Amino acid sequence: MEKSSDSTFYVTTPIYYVNDVPHIGHAYTTIIADALARFQKLAGKEVFFLTGTDEHGQKIEKAAAERGLTPMALADSVVGRTQDLWKALDISHDFFIRTTMDFHEKGVQKLFRALVEKGDIYKGEYKGWYCVSDENFLAEDVPFEAAGHKTCPDCGKACSAVSEETYFFRLSAYQDRLLAHYAANPEFVRPPSRMNEVASFVRGGLKDLSITRTTVKWGVPVPDDPRHTIYVWFDALHNYVTGAGYDWNMPLFRKFWPATVHLVGKDILRFHAVYWPAFLMASGLPLPKTVFGHGWWLRDDTKMSKSKGNVLDPQVLLRVFGPDPIRYFLLREIPIGQDGNFSHEAFIHRVNSDLANDLGNLVHRTLTMIRSYFDGRITHPAEESDEDRRLRTDFGDLKARIFDLYGDGFMNKALEEIWAYIGAVNKYLAGNEPWMMAKDPARRGRLARVLFQAAAAIRGLSYLAFPVMPRSMEKIWGFLGEESKPGEVPFSRMGFDGFEAGREVGMPEALFPRVALKDFLGGDAAAAPAAPAAGTGPKKEGNVDIITYDEFRRMDLRVARILKAERVAGATKILKLDVDIGTETRQMVAGIAETYAPEDIVGKSLIVIVNLKPAVIRGIESQAMLLAAVTGDNKALIPFFDRDLPPGTPVK
Ligand code: MSP
Repeated sequence: MEKSSDSTFYVTTPIYYVNDVPHIGHAYTTIIADALARFQKLAGKEVFFLTGTDEHGQKIEKAAAERGLTPMALADSVVGRTQDLWKALDISHDFFIRTTMDFHEKGVQKLFRALVEKGDIYKGEYKGWYCVSDENFLAEDVPFEAAGHKTCPDCGKACSAVSEETYFFRLSAYQDRLLAHYAANPEFVRPPSRMNEVASFVRGGLKDLSITRTTVKWGVPVPDDPRHTIYVWFDALHNYVTGAGYDWNMPLFRKFWPATVHLVGKDILRFHAVYWPAFLMASGLPLPKTVFGHGWWLRDDTKMSKSKGNVLDPQVLLRVFGPDPIRYFLLREIPIGQDGNFSHEAFIHRVNSDLANDLGNLVHRTLTMIRSYFDGRITHPAEESDEDRRLRTDFGDLKARIFDLYGDGFMNKALEEIWAYIGAVNKYLAGNEPWMMAKDPARRGRLARVLFQAAAAIRGLSYLAFPVMPRSMEKIWGFLGEESKPGEVPFSRMGFDGFEAGREVGMPEALFPRVALKDFLGGDAAAAPAAPAAGTGPKKEGNVDIITYDEFRRMDLRVARILKAERVAGATKILKLDVDIGTETRQMVAGIAETYAPEDIVGKSLIVIVNLKPAVIRGIESQAMLLAAVTGDNKALIPFFDRDLPPGTPVK
């Protein structure tokens, strides 16, 4: 098959399971992919960026049953919310694939059938262990006959014993070809440390892989043998070809396949770097150029994951900060292959220090001076001094380095370098003291130069930060009176010199909110079961604050069902709850541990307010507050409903 050329760039994210909406960890992968896609567009490549959802398999079947939904209804609702989230984070994917799409199912069946005909898929009997949480067949390192259950070595959950007729993929036949491919293409798995992991796994010996289930109904049926359902990973991995047109839009497929980079978390590297290339080799399709295994976002040193109940909902940060601070923080804070702990303190620090202070103030100060000293017009400047010239040539050097760093996926290093340059521009302004020059009419030409230089530097650095923070950088270009948008200017044509005298700058608005840590993290508000919801500046009647009906209506009160309740280590008064609020699951912290045991309240329905500003209590994000009566001795009593009501029912 014709290979895609170097003028194209095809990047993918994993497709996300639809058992719940994406959390910060998932947003991380998607944001990296988005920044890479935006950069490669600037670099002149024709880009195809694919993301989507993995909707089949036992995990989804189970999650849907727990909620009393069909798998399709669960998938539809989670997909809607996933797409809303990507939109709010300014994700610029070209296509969103769902594995329930007709063309995908047909493509998977076609590839499956061809491998049966070729003899790479054959029928047999599987006896072993299956981890539903990871959708993974375990290596048979423990005899199947062993008594009791087996725990998954990856996620720690109990596995089910499986004994059934199955189709196998002849993975063992690909061991040598895989090793040869790794040796000849060291960039196939990145970072290099991960390549060692993958190669030693393959050297350890590959067994044939069971790729169908008879006990799982929610999936793609095996062609001509519909008692069998195709294993979710065989189905899911092929999204990368069907999503790029395989079998339904072959011109698109020929243009972009093979993918340039599959971005994946390190937990699913084996599926992408061992099984996937083997499937492709068997089908005679070219292999992707690189599988990049990134690290995890942790909370308290463990992987953030829904099943551990320690996830952060990006919507909470989005509501307060908008997309760019989240995009910046996630890409700046940890080098791409490593793990990092998410801390609100670090997040707020980065927003206040890097964004609001270093960048926001620089833009604001420069534009305000141009407005007050030159009526907002960029004025023809005096000759460049050595120092001015250095600011310009430094930009050229920076641009070249950023090109390589983005090209290699080292986003955090690129941002570090851009911020070092921001520091240099701030120093340049402080050293030149334009506010002093403004007092002396004889230094007007020099003043014009300093402000010109600072504005040209801001234009340049915001261009370089555009792939990571598109929305704010576009705003900065607007303030600078630029007619084009940063996304429209090719990297090769972007230069310090592109800034000319004569243009008029606009009024700068605040780019990034400055939020005090204590305001964001809140106090004990969300832990208090029944904090009064007073409006601002309320009227008083007797001792009671009077609020209007409109003020009351602003509260989104709903029926919620408690899905999970647990104690919090080291805290005697609070319980951590997961509640279904109709549209999603929210995590909350409530001061009810002295009145209720966790096991007494699971399944019950109560009233929660869902649009209260979230708070972090004992390091746990509380995303809703329940209503309860509080007795004189400070005991909280929850008014539970006396009949079954669907979660999400409004309370007015
Ligand atoms: N459906 C499969 C992928 C199939 S791709 C053909 C899957 N889905 S997932 O929703 O569980 O995870 C998707 C991705 O999110 C994985 O790459 C995983 O590593 C990543 N992350 C999940 N939690 C994460 C963190 N806490 N931190 C960073 N990434 C994390 O696996």
